[in-house]
Amino acid sequence: MKTPTIQTSRLILRPLALSDAPAIQRHFNNWNIIRNLATVVPWPYPDNGAETFIRRELEIIAAGEEIYHWVLTLRAGDGEAVGNIHFRPGADNPKGNRGFWLAEPYWKRGLMTEAISAVNDFAFNTLGIEQFHVCNVVSNEASRRVKQKTGAEFVGYIELAHHNGQSKSERWRVTRESWLRLNPGAGERSS
Ligand SMILES: CC(C)(COP(=O)(O)OP(=O)(O)OC[C@H]1O[C@@H](n2cnc3c(N)ncnc32)[C@H](O)[C@@H]1OP(=O)(O)O)[C@@H](O)C(=O)NCCC(=O)NCCS
Repeated sequence: MKTPTIQTSRLILRPLALSDAPAIQRHFNNWNIIRNLATVVPWPYPDNGAETFIRRELEIIAAGEEIYHWVLTLRAGDGEAVGNIHFRPGADNPKGNRGFWLAEPYWKRGLMTEAISAVNDFAFNTLGIEQFHVCNVVSNEASRRVKQKTGAEFVGYIELAHHNGQSKSERWRVTRESWLRLNPGAGERSS
């Protein structure tokens, strides 16, 4: 299945496109974002970092790998990408199956919680999967809170080098059961 467009009350999640490169370059090239990420992300961020990243991801998708890649746009905005979520349900990766970031001016408004709730609906209702794993470095309180608010259950610690110098990372499992327990109406919502 191709990445679908998903609407929430304040956001439109639409498939990543090469035309998102300038906005992603501008918003993602920010130490306050990248310090929370694994060292697989380049830093200093190259001038063509976003374009290289998008081209690679689109190639992987075109080659047939199951990966859903959204940019987040504000319904009240001009359509510019202000964040990104990727979800690889089949990946066997220590970093887990999902990653996300949001442009700093939009933090702490509940936007990522809103977006991830919609992606959980997509995962459990549309794709019909049973569970997936997610991770964050222990110092990343915001990411932990998003996970806790969207049905993730703590599994244990793994070692994964992050840009902030820490490697102790939390691993979480999100199951259909934990998501529906938290959101009893989610089984009836369409995504
Ligand atoms: C993680 C991130 C996407 C959160 O986005 P967001 O839209 O600000 O998150 P929300 O507004 O939905 O907040 C969810 C919870 O986290 C809390 N929170 C948000 N930012 C926080 C921060 N900097 N420190 C502590 N708590 C924070 C919120 O208060 C909220 O908890 P609450 O309901 O108990 O108050 C954003 O901070 C980000 O892009 N960070 C950099 C990249 C990153 O860390 N990605 C994840 C890697 S695992």
